[in-house]
Amino acid sequence: MSESGLEPVIDRKNSRNIIEIKDLTKVFGDGVEVIALNRISLTIKEGEFLAIVGPSGSGKSTLLNMIGLLDTPTSGSIILKGVDVTSASPNQRANLRNRELGFVFQYHHLLPEFSALENVMMPMLIAGMDKAQASERAHKLLSDVGLADRLHNRPSQLSGGQNQRVAVARALANSPSIVIGDELTGNLDSKTSRLIYDLLRDLNKQINQTFILVTHDMDMAEKTDRILRIVDGQLVCELRRQQDGWSQSDACNHLEDGGLKH
Ligand SMILES: Nc1ncnc2c1ncn2[C@@H]1O[C@H](COP(=O)(O)OP(=O)(O)OP(=O)(O)O)[C@@H](O)[C@H]1O
Ligand SMILES: [Mg+2]
Repeated sequence: MSESGLEPVIDRKNSRNIIEIKDLTKVFGDGVEVIALNRISLTIKEGEFLAIVGPSGSGKSTLLNMIGLLDTPTSGSIILKGVDVTSASPNQRANLRNRELGFVFQYHHLLPEFSALENVMMPMLIAGMDKAQASERAHKLLSDVGLADRLHNRPSQLSGGQNQRVAVARALANSPSIVIGDELTGNLDSKTSRLIYDLLRDLNKQINQTFILVTHDMDMAEKTDRILRIVDGQLVCELRRQQDGWSQSDACNHLEDGGLKH
């Protein structure tokens, strides 16, 4: 840890590109059209820990849904680990999602009839892990997010923040190479947010997992290594953490707040 309490910055110049997005556009609606994403181009390197910020309705969740292979773009392309997934079949997408991606949604989408433990075991069982092993790993993950005493409760018996932590544990279950979080710490108090951040940072360091986190919490964003700011479906500014502070793209200079406020 550095004096500021942040991890030292790792030079990723030579890391490989894990996600390459080119001119990504998403238009919703057939009557009134909404341009949710407007020609976004972006490269993310393996092991990056980055935050996406921007006002409500600016396109953050839409972008995550594209990266998470949950939705398809209107135009443009997405390359995941060198494979063009823009027009992958539903089957290929489902396979890649289960193997390579862990997703924590803005609204957590846990299965209501299953316990916390079973919800976390589910992606491992789908991937073919045996039940005893999946259960052991789910125990460990739920303890890591501070829920060792809530294993057998269903989502309706847990608080919003506890469900969110179950969703984090579930996203980490198959050790995906990319973890995507939409307001991952949105419902959490600062102590629990810190616990989750530390857990993600450890994984980022230890197994080089890539994290892409949409957040309204600037304290969280400022702990990452790279902040992308989206406004009206466009990438308007990008900041990168350096050893001695943040460097920013030229476009940020034209924003009154230097790009950091959202
Ligand atoms: N399925 C949809 N059909 C029509 N419009 C949509 C759909 N999903 C999103 N939109 C619109 O696209 C734009 C971007 O939405 P998005 O959910 O990506 O915003 P966001 O940045 O995640 O906002 P928030 O911070 O409030 O979660 C908004 O104008 C929204 O109304
Ligand atoms: Mg959203």
